[in-house]
Amino acid sequence: MIFINITNTKKNKDFYQDSIVLLEGAISNITTKLDMIRKYKVVKGDRDPIEYIVTRVKSEDSMKEKLKRKKLDVTLENALTKIYDAAGVRIICAYIDDVYTVAEMLKKYKDLKVIKEKDYIKHPKSNGYRSYHIVFELPLDLAGEIKPIYVEIQIRTIAMDFWSNLEHEMRYKKNIKNQQLIGEELRRCADEIATTDINMQTIRKLIDSSK
Ligand code: GTP
Ligand code: MG
Repeated sequence: MIFINITNTKKNKDFYQDSIVLLEGAISNITTKLDMIRKYKVVKGDRDPIEYIVTRVKSEDSMKEKLKRKKLDVTLENALTKIYDAAGVRIICAYIDDVYTVAEMLKKYKDLKVIKEKDYIKHPKSNGYRSYHIVFELPLDLAGEIKPIYVEIQIRTIAMDFWSNLEHEMRYKKNIKNQQLIGEELRRCADEIATTDINMQTIRKLIDSSK
């Protein structure tokens, strides 16, 4: 069971102040639920649907950039209430079916309220991006006060993750040459990956049904 946490609490505390406790608490709450989902599946004799999990609290710089891009005042209040991805959890699965299994099981939790949901697997973006996104609102009880916290969950296959990390790199490189060609190649790769994901899923099912 691999778990990667790339949150830098000390640095983030400067911007998020006491609320860093809530953001990290919300992430822990989700990862505990994911841990239970994995164990439940294994106990029932199914496969573990998750390969690994990456979590992060959005860095001060990218939060400020996003607030400006959305024409919002750069305040902590806006960062916590108008932007939904201060707390982020990315779940990487081996197979497409696992992505939907994890999404459905998370949605069953009564304390998680779906705020936004986007299926970029069934409806890929024009650049080829695929992933399942859900923003949950989670009530967190701290020092006698209940605060709603948003967490953005991205669920995708290993292949989709591989692709989106490379695409993300290109997107944030300035003055890149051959941008159009790279975009077209990425798009072609995204479609190949999608075909491979479906083929892998089919083989997986064949193996499972011939046991
Ligand atoms: P943001 O303003 O970026 O949060 O977009 P949104 O509110 O429309 O949400 P969306 O669900 O489209 O995207 C949320 C997050 O998914 C982004 O912050 C990225 O981390 C990721 N994402 C969305 N589109 C792409 C894409 O085309 N490429 C990559 N690499 N990541 C993407
Ligand atoms: Mg984002």
